[in-house]
Amino acid sequence: MSNRFRGTYAEINLNNIESNYNYVKSLLKNKSIMPVVKANAYGHGVIEVVRKLVSLDVNYFCVSLLEEALEIKEVFPDVNILVMGVVMPNDFATASSNKITLTISNEFQYQGLLEFDDELSIHLKVDTGMNRLGFKDGLVIKEVIKNIGKNSYINIEGIFTHFATADSDEKYYQFQLDNFKKILATIDYDFKMIHASNSSSTIKYEQNISFTTHCRLGISLYGLTLDKGMSLLKPAFKLKTVISEIKELAKGEYLGYGITYQAKENILVGVLPIGYADGFLRQNRDSIAEINGKSFNTIGTICMDQMFIEIDKTIKYNDTVTLFGGIISIDDVATRNNTINYEVVCQITSRVPREYI
Ligand SMILES: Cc1ncc(COP(=O)(O)O)c(C=O)c1O
Repeated sequence: MSNRFRGTYAEINLNNIESNYNYVKSLLKNKSIMPVVKANAYGHGVIEVVRKLVSLDVNYFCVSLLEEALEIKEVFPDVNILVMGVVMPNDFATASSNKITLTISNEFQYQGLLEFDDELSIHLKVDTGMNRLGFKDGLVIKEVIKNIGKNSYINIEGIFTHFATADSDEKYYQFQLDNFKKILATIDYDFKMIHASNSSSTIKYEQNISFTTHCRLGISLYGLTLDKGMSLLKPAFKLKTVISEIKELAKGEYLGYGITYQAKENILVGVLPIGYADGFLRQNRDSIAEINGKSFNTIGTICMDQMFIEIDKTIKYNDTVTLFGGIISIDDVATRNNTINYEVVCQITSRVPREYI
């Protein structure tokens, strides 16, 4: 139980994360999952998520930042971690001394690597069409490997690419996959680890890919997907708060900043101790929230620390209000806010304690 003094928290179901991991694993023969736990495990709380996965014998994780890798290493010094984002040569020594694996995706890092004089494991990043990070040309990568090979401190452990459209454009996905295959043939190097798939590709296509060893499972570990018909995944994040104040609003009275809401009749209003500083953004106004299995309208503007809900006489102080993760799904919130489920869970700030079941 965390040290919290208000009724707002995120309820994280680690059993669902375990179930999602086991489900995806069951789809894969002879391949390993590297869970992606960047951004505080997509908002779910990185240390507890890693703890759960370590208990399932997972020993290789992916993050985006060196800071994120260090945070995990402090608690779990023996796990392997790949930093997928760009770490600059100035920071190679920190990665080396903490046994953290880096991604090398550009000329600047490569030049730094040639001169680096301590042990470092790396994965090379190939840009097959997303045009974000990575080397694009197989012959260039071949040369990079040849020259890095002259530095005996460097262990070239793996190579990978990333798909831009695994969930949305199968043709472009296939183009990137074919491109990766061609580039690997040009490089002709015996990598210990080759990986390409994110969640969507892992679930839909990984078994048909013959040349990869691992996949990087992010959003679906947390029970979410942008694909249709994946009912076996179980979302793990519920955002909960309570009724912290109840007041009567007489017909004609106004509510909140900007007095954007005026009561058309006498109503009861519940004040909820959560706001946009918790990552429940102002664009969520005029929606619904769940109390005792029923939905109620939220009204007025969302403040930094409070918001409002129209209630009835059955609702009492301290009743639990579920903003999402119950009858209102994370996908419902994403649709309402014209965004994707990834953003809904990532944007809940660290001010909201994560509690685990
Ligand atoms: C390089 C890389 N690999 C894997 C992932 C995991 O993707 P997903 O969450 O769609 O599984 C991400 C997430 O953005 C990523 O940036």
